[in-house]
Amino acid sequence: MQVVAYLVYLLASVLFIFGIKKLGSPKTARQGNQLSALGMLLAVVVTLLDQHIVSYEYIILGIIIGSLIGGILAVKVPMTGMPQMVGLLNGFGGGASALVAFAEYFKEADMGLTFEMSTLITIVLSILIGSVTFTGSLIAFGKLQGIVTGKVVKYPLQNPINIILILAVVAATVIVVMEPSNINVLYGIGAVSLLLGVLLVLPIGGADMPVAVSLLNSYSGLAASMTGFVLSNNMLIIAGALVGASGIILTMIMCKGMNRSLMNVVLGGWEDAGSDSGAALDGPQKTAKSIDAEELAMLLDSVQSVVIVPGYGMAVAQAQHAVRDLTNILEKKNINVRFAIHPVAGRMPGHMNVLLAEAQVSYDKLFALEDINDDFPNVDLAIVVGANDVVNPAARHDEKSPIYGMPILNVDYAKTVIVNKRSLNVGYAGIQNELFFYDNTLMFFGSAKEAINSLNNELKAL
Ligand code: TAP
Repeated sequence: MQVVAYLVYLLASVLFIFGIKKLGSPKTARQGNQLSALGMLLAVVVTLLDQHIVSYEYIILGIIIGSLIGGILAVKVPMTGMPQMVGLLNGFGGGASALVAFAEYFKEADMGLTFEMSTLITIVLSILIGSVTFTGSLIAFGKLQGIVTGKVVKYPLQNPINIILILAVVAATVIVVMEPSNINVLYGIGAVSLLLGVLLVLPIGGADMPVAVSLLNSYSGLAASMTGFVLSNNMLIIAGALVGASGIILTMIMCKGMNRSLMNVVLGGWEDAGSDSGAALDGPQKTAKSIDAEELAMLLDSVQSVVIVPGYGMAVAQAQHAVRDLTNILEKKNINVRFAIHPVAGRMPGHMNVLLAEAQVSYDKLFALEDINDDFPNVDLAIVVGANDVVNPAARHDEKSPIYGMPILNVDYAKTVIVNKRSLNVGYAGIQNELFFYDNTLMFFGSAKEAINSLNNELKAL
């Protein structure tokens, strides 16, 4: 049985690895998800058959209840609510790892506390990382859901307090290793870790939460991996390591896309991050030119190539279907339509890809920043739909700008730029966008869904 279990674990690990590989492209992502889910099912079933911890009835009941909750959430939660759902699930993963580590301690304790030092250290690490992930993820969920303040929370002696708590955990670990029967110290480690999770995530601004969630995701993988060592379960070690590594890679990709260090995000970032109003223009007030739906339809009648740049506003307005209709109408007029996707457009990785896929815009029209940026000078019309920071030219030249150095889509190099948003207000970074005042820019004001739909109607009427 043991050999069969190992072989199935190996097969499940291979399925996870291929699953992740397939997540790399929207075309194969669904298949990748299914492969990984199959791997997880195999791993659960074989563990069920191999281990004799609780009775089958309980395990089967657990699987049914868990699958039901997961299934209902997956169907009910809207796409914009995904970051908080992922945050919550991470938290449960971390919490489960901490509980399993405690359970393993009690099991060993029943057998006479003959711990090896390495086992004790891994139990403590599981409890530490699992508990931090649990409360940290709950706070992240609360911030994204609007239950906890989304503001950057700063309090006196923030970093010294965190450092003292971390040192306390290290000291407590030494005590547990020297005196394994001291269960109170182990409880203390759990309690301090729970507090650390809250204190580490609370200062992070609401809009930075996707980065925090991805980092916590990586922690939950580490916690699972540690638990794998505690239980001597290779499957858990591999799966945890995969989650840990992919989580940290995703975190780094997001930080790079925003041109910010992980430290900057974790330590609270921009003071005004997340405020979507209160635009302040430095220097003399400039005026932006605007265009209405009818004029824009006429302008579109005379162009050959269009690049659409979606952003957070398209997601909020749920305008992806209207944008898809616009694409179809323009293509019928023999206009070449492409989409330029910035790596951190929106509020979560792949946000735009998911929305456009939902609206059935074909993948071959979607171009990553590096694949389309050099082509903007050849584009007749760039249409920005609810994007702001990711098209702000200040990132290229204004060394004082908080987004200086962030790679941006060079829409201003197109012959004409249309920017659809409701006002001249700022985006996530809280800074004004000089693009709105460029000579070749025309503002197309309005909430994205209504604005694009009215443009579609005008185009059809031509
Ligand atoms: P933002 O810079 O946040 O700008 C979004 C714009 O959408 C706002 O300026 C807003 O202007 C407009 N908007 C809001 N509701 C709208 C509606 N109903 N119709 C039309 N427009 C609407 O968005 P972006 O360009 O996508 O940039 C993303 C930002 O988020 C970047 O700064 C990025 O660093 C950050 N971020 C991204 C991620 C990931 S992974 N994607 C994670 C964390 C942070 P009005 O109020 O004038 O309408």
